Amino acid sequence: MALYDTIGRNYVQTRRSDPRIVTELLRILQASSVSTVVDIGAGTGSYALPLANQGYQVLAVEPSAVMREQAISHPSIQWFDGCAEHLPLPDQTADAAIVMLAFHHFQDDRQALQEIYRVIGRGQIVLFTYDPAMIRQFWLTEYFPAFIIDVETTFLPISTLISNIKTITGKAINRVSFPLPRDLADSFMAVGWARPELYLERRVRHGISSFSKLNATERDSGLSRLQRDLKTEVWDQQYGHLRTQQNFDIGYCFLHTH
Ligand SMILES: C[S@@+](CC[C@H](N)C(=O)[O-])C[C@H]1O[C@@H](n2cnc3c(N)ncnc32)[C@H](O)[C@@H]1O
Repeated sequence: MALYDTIGRNYVQTRRSDPRIVTELLRILQASSVSTVVDIGAGTGSYALPLANQGYQVLAVEPSAVMREQAISHPSIQWFDGCAEHLPLPDQTADAAIVMLAFHHFQDDRQALQEIYRVIGRGQIVLFTYDPAMIRQFWLTEYFPAFIIDVETTFLPISTLISNIKTITGKAINRVSFPLPRDLADSFMAVGWARPELYLERRVRHGISSFSKLNATERDSGLSRLQRDLKTEVWDQQYGHLRTQQNFDIGYCFLHTH
């Protein structure tokens, strides 16, 4: 069974689009003349919906039925059961492709890029992803050290990803860092950088794939240490300055072509 058929059951409870991420995505798309966007690994349509609301035609491709079933329908969003490596779309159907926090889940990233190129031709590619070189700097890994190996083996180094996109599509890539706001609405892994208590909530952890990969011993030991350090204010002595910081660059970024 696909991972998101298991962990995606209550995805919409914690994984909503963040308005600041949407604004940046729109800014990048608006710089090119794009009208039809293929959203690959579209999940529940968190980012397809705001694009459709802005007038884009969206072709949302998602392999997990559990995820697709939670999507809000919209006349400008057409849903497809399919995966990035075999996009169920004819050649040159869209003028842009977006991949929002999904590229690291693809089985074959090169084949996915070739498929994207086939479907968008000279169109624009926009990825929202994570730079795995930053994971060791995130305090959360002190409590859950297994996240380091998970992230470093799941996400391609950004330089490799950029070079693969260039090789396959012949396009130059821009990297735009995305410091996370303190009140991030989309609860992905670094959501609690300034709000550590969030990780104590089962429903928040449930929407984060890295937590689902931890074994129960690692998870419980990390959680009880975090709980204790919050209670004794050890966490605040070390990281309390983050609580008043507005943004934090922990490695999330947009990679896009023109
Ligand atoms: C973290 S979710 C992101 C969903 C959505 N893009 C968002 O930002 O809310 C990752 C998504 O990638 C999908 N996925 C996994 N493997 C895939 C593949 N090979 N091709 C396309 N999508 C895939 C998962 O089913 C899941 O819905």
